[in-house]
Amino acid sequence: MKNIAILASGSGTNAENISRYFADSKDIRVAVVLSNNTKAGVHERVGRLGIPSFVFSREEFAEGTVILNKLTEYNVELVVLAGFMNMISEVLLNAYPNKMINIHPSLLPKYGGKSMYGMHVHEAVVAAGEKETGITIHYLNDQYDKGDVIFQTSCPVYPSDTPEEVAERVHGLEYIYYPQVIENLLNLDHL
Ligand code: GAR
Repeated sequence: MKNIAILASGSGTNAENISRYFADSKDIRVAVVLSNNTKAGVHERVGRLGIPSFVFSREEFAEGTVILNKLTEYNVELVVLAGFMNMISEVLLNAYPNKMINIHPSLLPKYGGKSMYGMHVHEAVVAAGEKETGITIHYLNDQYDKGDVIFQTSCPVYPSDTPEEVAERVHGLEYIYYPQVIENLLNLDHL
């Protein structure tokens, strides 16, 4: 069994979707969810599926040791960020080289960087009059949204779209492709 950890700070719809995708798998499972937010919806979502979730402080994520201990305890092979809004420590990046991935709700390098997350991204896309947007799945490195790209796909943005409508379309792409990309990575021998 290959174990995944999901890091999430918010509602956790991707975390739930990924957990459900692997629920019947004999090879891959979401073993644990880690968050920096006690109030995040992700706890209830994955709790309903019997997946344990834990909260650590911003300082603990920045320092890394207790997070690493938790990942080791659950024998985690791949760390998946899904709406996680904290920086990842060097301790973790060194412990999981090319085994930490993130999803970003735009076509990076467009609309990436520290203040670009969640609805801020879709608001900026609409304000700029973009005709398309999409998702980027990438490896983590020590800079926001700058790691090597694993997968991108796009969707249209229509002139009448609100940021909420764009968010819904982008979430749709995330639900289809993030679990598939995770599965492909875990089935590659280098992991
Ligand atoms: C997702 O759209 C994800 O791409 C985005 O946050 C949302 C989380 O939704 N991540 C970022 O913006 C990272 N910079 P969810 O909590 O419902 O999965």
